Amino acid sequence: MGKAGEQNRIEEPETAVRIRLLSKAAPLLSDWFGKKGRPLPWRAVKDPYRILVSETMLQQTRIETVLRYYERFLERFPDFESLAAADEETVLKLWEGLGYYSRARNLKKAAEACVRDHGGRLPETAEGLKKLPGIGDYTAGAVASLAFGEAAPAVDGNVLRILARFFADERDVTVPAVKKEAAALLRSVLETLPDPGVFNEALMELGEICCVPNGRPFCRSCPFKDSCRAMALGLEEDLPLRGAPKPRRIEKKTVLLLHCGGRTALEKRPDKGLLAGLYGFPILDGWLERADIRAFLESYGARGAELKEAGGAVHVFTHVEWYMKAYRIETNEPLPGYIYAEAQEIRTRYALPSAFKYFAE
Ligand code: ADE
Repeated sequence: MGKAGEQNRIEEPETAVRIRLLSKAAPLLSDWFGKKGRPLPWRAVKDPYRILVSETMLQQTRIETVLRYYERFLERFPDFESLAAADEETVLKLWEGLGYYSRARNLKKAAEACVRDHGGRLPETAEGLKKLPGIGDYTAGAVASLAFGEAAPAVDGNVLRILARFFADERDVTVPAVKKEAAALLRSVLETLPDPGVFNEALMELGEICCVPNGRPFCRSCPFKDSCRAMALGLEEDLPLRGAPKPRRIEKKTVLLLHCGGRTALEKRPDKGLLAGLYGFPILDGWLERADIRAFLESYGARGAELKEAGGAVHVFTHVEWYMKAYRIETNEPLPGYIYAEAQEIRTRYALPSAFKYFAE
């Protein structure tokens, strides 16, 4: 035992942290899905056959397109028996326009196997489903969880994107090990949930209508907005990463070391983006000319200030590099809106991020 009040702290492994964070956020996702989930036709009935048909059609195909085919297909082939007994030509005709025709052929072969080997029903586990033609990891996980409530993960690009953002994970999502790890993580989370199917379908929905790729995700309406690390760090548009990392953005900055009566001006940084919510010296975009700096000071009512070059520094962040030039500026009055602090206070109270440390002396 250590001294009184001392604790032997053991770091929780990262995987355990992730399982805990996602399990904690899971009920928010299910609530959100209950309120915002679209009433898609395959969600209305828990019929394994219908679920398999929808998941097969949804592979590589947009929901809007699938909606035009789904009901018509089911009217003609309402169950495994009718699909197994159909001739392939008729099945392909009804699939015409949906593309990726091997899906239709495999679906029919899967129906034949169900009738022949499983009494006209689907195997009820992901492992069993994967033995059927055309059913891979994703579809097996989706069908096993949606139709039979198994804690089976269904990991596709949508889910990898959500996880990369949720954990601000900067690994390349095209690497198979990342996908494997995502599946293991989700399985652990699903095992803690009362309805794994709802969670999986809610994740799909989140990836399709909220945490969308290519452009801005709709973070303000996201059930994970208070727990998403990418959002907290302002990285939601930069993640997930695929393939070779993007070169860092180069930004030129002018740092103002505003002094008055032995104190230096600090500002609280905005709530989002780089160094969000931390304190730093006032910093402006670009390398400003002296005349621009004077104009800036005058906009605060400070005229005739003494202005000296105070060196430069480069700071490298994950996605951005700052090339900073600093000016030491002595004014007679403090500029409004800034916090003026003594050197000692800056060291102890405001905990300057390292990007600004070069200028702290
Ligand atoms: N994508 C794949 N399966 C889906 C489902 N069941 N609902 C919505 N999008 C999906």
